[in-house]
Amino acid sequence: MYEHTKVILSLLLLPPVSCTISLKGLQGQLTSLDYPQGYANDLQQSWEIEVPRGYGIKLSFTHIDIEPSPDCAYDHVQIFCDEILHPLICGSNSREGKQFQFPQEYYTTGKWMRVTFVSDFSNEERYTGFAAYYTAVDINECEEEDPCSHYCNNYIGGFHCSCRPGYFLQENQRTCGVNCSGEVLTSFKGVITSPNYPKPYAENSQCQYRIQIEQGFEVILEFAEDFDVEGDPSIGCTSDVLKVTSGAKKYGPFCGDQAPVVKGHLSNVVEITFDTDGHGQKKGWKIIYRSTAKQCSTDILEHSIIQPKKVEYDYKDSVQLHCESGFELYDIQRSEHISSALVHCQKDGSWNSNLYICMPVDCGPPTKLMNGHENFISTVYTSQNQYSCEEPYYKLEGNAVFNCSEEAEWIDATSGQLTLPKCKPVCGNCLLSSKTGRIFGGQQAKPGYFPWQLRLVTTRGEMGGGALISDRWVLTAAHLFDNSLQVEIHGGLVDLRRRSPEGELPMELAIIHPSYRKQVEDGQPNFNHDIALIKLREKVKLRSNLAPVCLPGPGGASLPDDGTLGYISGWGRMEKRKLAVILQYAEVPIVSMDECKNSNYDGPKPVFTPNMICAGLPGVDSCQGDSGGPYVFIDLQNPSRHVVRGIVSFGPQECGNYGVYTHVGNYVDWIETTMKEHEDRETDLEVI
Ligand SMILES: *[C@@H]1O[C@H](CO)[C@@H](O)[C@H](O)[C@H]1NC(C)=O
Ligand SMILES: *[C@@H]1O[C@H](CO)[C@@H](O)[C@H](O)[C@H]1NC(C)=O
Repeated sequence: MYEHTKVILSLLLLPPVSCTISLKGLQGQLTSLDYPQGYANDLQQSWEIEVPRGYGIKLSFTHIDIEPSPDCAYDHVQIFCDEILHPLICGSNSREGKQFQFPQEYYTTGKWMRVTFVSDFSNEERYTGFAAYYTAVDINECEEEDPCSHYCNNYIGGFHCSCRPGYFLQENQRTCGVNCSGEVLTSFKGVITSPNYPKPYAENSQCQYRIQIEQGFEVILEFAEDFDVEGDPSIGCTSDVLKVTSGAKKYGPFCGDQAPVVKGHLSNVVEITFDTDGHGQKKGWKIIYRSTAKQCSTDILEHSIIQPKKVEYDYKDSVQLHCESGFELYDIQRSEHISSALVHCQKDGSWNSNLYICMPVDCGPPTKLMNGHENFISTVYTSQNQYSCEEPYYKLEGNAVFNCSEEAEWIDATSGQLTLPKCKPVCGNCLLSSKTGRIFGGQQAKPGYFPWQLRLVTTRGEMGGGALISDRWVLTAAHLFDNSLQVEIHGGLVDLRRRSPEGELPMELAIIHPSYRKQVEDGQPNFNHDIALIKLREKVKLRSNLAPVCLPGPGGASLPDDGTLGYISGWGRMEKRKLAVILQYAEVPIVSMDECKNSNYDGPKPVFTPNMICAGLPGVDSCQGDSGGPYVFIDLQNPSRHVVRGIVSFGPQECGNYGVYTHVGNYVDWIETTMKEHEDRETDLEVI
């Protein structure tokens, strides 16, 4: 290192070289100035020798006679080649008695050499200088550098590499490889091996293989067991490397002596690369591949039924799509429902089913219930609707919950039937507290006390009463129709000076009991069967002051014991012989029929029959204008219900004692049959 620095320093200290001679031939000569005469002081000479590529230079000194000095510091020749400055040369190779320690031949494998000659300012003796010649010499690159992977052939001025059979010289003109690229396998199954397999694979090779099969198919790879590739997989295969690539999936690098496993299906295009380095060949590898059609999922469309049913579906398979019951196949493109569709498993493993959906059937809004409500969130298949009625005036009869069925119909969730429930009027409820105590004489009713109480006025102006027994039917006395077949009916009233919201409730027909005869037999008035029904033209909307009273149930014909109290109500004459403006009511007991028979009648005594009830108290009675009105009792089985047991029928001219009432319990069958006979067929399907 020190030596080298000193040399560079001495070069820098040199005055500029005065002239440079360029030598380009295959051989030539160079001498110091004035050779073989003595050289002058202060000389600076240099020669640049250049020979063609593939040659080296051999320089031989035939004569050297240069002033000697320590380290040849004064005069010298110097040779620069191969980036090396050779030591300065001085002294003489021809004077006797002087030994010469420098080599007289110089050689470079490079094609360039520089020779410089320097003399200083003073020479004590005469020195003749130097003479040298150079020749271009051939280099045996094959020996010098071993540049070829197989065979090296030297020639003058160069060399070339050649390969063993089966190999070819690669682009760098030095290494030999095998021709292992460009192969494309297109059959559905096959085998790929490393070059020469099962003989050792070639070094210095970059092999690329490609499997490319029809779209819609997938490649499955398997390595033969006798896998042997140079390298250590645990350090990442730094020697020879096998890699498999398929789309975004990459496998490897693989090496070592364990056959790798490539799991699953690869796409239809697979690239395999195998790069080997310059040494260490092993047996190699063998890949057996097969292919399978890309599969479509069995999960085609939600809520669909597919035919035929298979565990797997392959490319080009087709299936018929239907929807599960409760769903309808809908063609999105054509915007219409269809019964089925044929779909195909496509190349990419998907079904062309995205044009269809299975839509739940829609039941539409459920039928409205008269006097009821629906309660539903959705109207499609499996939705539920819950009916309810306007309580407390109506009660649901039938099942409340309905399902939207597969057939797009609302069906009873329990029975599966289509029959709708009904909101039936609730009878016998009123606001009258049952324990008002015993009332003597009339009391003013409050709204809601007798919601069944109706006011009837005949076309001749006769006043009467009636009782609502359903939302359509009125119970009254037959004798109201003695002189007129039409009545005006008002309901929901307590104070006659006010109007009821309903106005008049028009009648449709009146049915008088067929056995009722207004006649006087042998001078005796006969009120037997004094009972009539009126059908209203329309159902009334029940509310707190307009609601039916209950009919006696089975066994209604048997009366409560004498002395049992019931309510009478009406706008009839009061004690002061004036018609009432506010509905009056009183509590009167059932009494023995004898009390009525023994009352004072103007003229002949009327006929008395078991179809009559006698009731009353001295001073408490019904009177003219109350005819047809109800005589109601608390239902002992259900004290919140009121039952009509009597209809105001007749009494002595002088009111205020005992009165006669039609025994409703004897007519329950007739009432029910008559109402049924005249029931409207369409009422079940009423639309509001
Ligand atoms: C390598 O093989 C390809 C085709 O397989 C061929 O075209 C090419 O000439 C070959 N190259 C050599 C150097 O053999
Ligand atoms: C109605 O739907 C309920 C709840 O989904 C179900 O349990 C019931 O079986 C259905 N009823 C009918 C008749 O389908």
